[in-house]
Amino acid sequence: MKLQLAFFRWQLLFYAVAAGLAAVSPARAQTPDEGKLPYRQQPIDYFGPETNDAIARLQARLEKHEVRLEFREGQGYLQSLLEALDVPVVSQTLVFAKNSVNARLISPENPRALYFNDEVYVGWVPGAPAIELSAVDRQKGAMFYTLRQQSEGAPRIVREESCLLCHASANAQGVPGHLVRSFLTDPQGNPTRGYSRITHDTPTAERWGGWYVTGDFGSLPHQGNLATALDLLEHERNPDGPGRTVDLRQRLGAAKYPVLHSDVVALLVLEHQLHLQNLLTRVNYEERLERRPVAAAGTVAGNPPQTVTETEERLVRYLLFVDEAPLESPVLGGSAFESWFSRQGPRDRQGRSLRQFDLERRLFAFRCSYLIDSPAFDALPAAARTRVYARLWKVLSAAAPAEPYDRLPARERRAILEILRDTKPDLPESWK
Ligand code: HEC
Repeated sequence: MKLQLAFFRWQLLFYAVAAGLAAVSPARAQTPDEGKLPYRQQPIDYFGPETNDAIARLQARLEKHEVRLEFREGQGYLQSLLEALDVPVVSQTLVFAKNSVNARLISPENPRALYFNDEVYVGWVPGAPAIELSAVDRQKGAMFYTLRQQSEGAPRIVREESCLLCHASANAQGVPGHLVRSFLTDPQGNPTRGYSRITHDTPTAERWGGWYVTGDFGSLPHQGNLATALDLLEHERNPDGPGRTVDLRQRLGAAKYPVLHSDVVALLVLEHQLHLQNLLTRVNYEERLERRPVAAAGTVAGNPPQTVTETEERLVRYLLFVDEAPLESPVLGGSAFESWFSRQGPRDRQGRSLRQFDLERRLFAFRCSYLIDSPAFDALPAAARTRVYARLWKVLSAAAPAEPYDRLPARERRAILEILRDTKPDLPESWK
């Protein structure tokens, strides 16, 4: 696929600087290893023609007329594209902060809708000239594309370079990656103050600034749904109170969006998933570019014994949710996202799965990410993958693992090992 270079390049740069995205996040200190990695050079060759992701595969199928996209009044290719990419419409979340490309069009009355599955993300702003897309390439990380919303001519998905202005910043681990922020806005949706990188470690009280949130979240503190001057005023009066609810039908009308949700569980999963994918890309790049950062404390067995790198240790910690922010109130999604997500499996002999939700005190019942089963994890360079597996094994199989892994009780660690043994085909021999 050809690269398209000049997609509103200057306009993008303007937004990137205005949104504080081109620079390092002011909200949280970055560690030095999060500098940008040279992804243009071999062996990464990010902009090289080779791609291995779901969107490039869809474009190839479009060219061979194996699949058709249907253009409909109002939403253009959106619904048809979601179907072709197997992305459920119930994964919809809505962000009204002007953080991204179509900032001019995004507002509390016209939020940007995001949809996702394990590998693909779709961004749609009503009235925007193009749909924004990204997908995980198992070797290259996040790949970016657009699809013009025009009914004439064959639909064509085009690879974009300019997106990396924001999407390869320190907030995406310095590799081509995904972003989630939480910024309070003014009533027009202009970001004012907040956090440039949200992960499952971020307390919910700091999340969802600039986003709508729907579902049942009891007294959970959060910054979502602060879209009007009145919302903001009331929040200012009681900043530590429970998060606000919103009636989207009233704010957006019934017809514009395919569904009227910005599901709280979808948001929680999205925030978990994006950061993990960025970490996987970072570990992959560091190994292949031979830019391994200083060793971390964790030594793994082998002959001779090896030490995981600092990034690999962060990956293991994140995979096992060791620093996850607790849910201070149980949550329940209001859309069918939860059931869609858990249905994906795979399940072990006892019917357990890493996609099983907890939603009482934390996100998942078993704290090992389902993305351990993703192509990007399996495609980690062999040396890095071996070290990560050995470190995971040491933590999961220990009678009493050292701090911080002692936060996972023995029973849960045993369950995780059992689920992985039943469901993950290519575990190292020593795990069986
Ligand atoms: C001005 C900075 C900026 C630029 C440039 C930008 N994005 Fe983003 N993008 C964001 C932010 C911030 C988010 C997180 C959601 C939000 O706040 O809107 C995001 C989210 C996304 C998502 C959802 C997955 C994710 O990473 O959260 C997709 C898909 C996406 N962008 C596609 C694109 C494409 C395609 C381009 C280039 C045509 C692009 N973006 C350019 C800032 C940017």
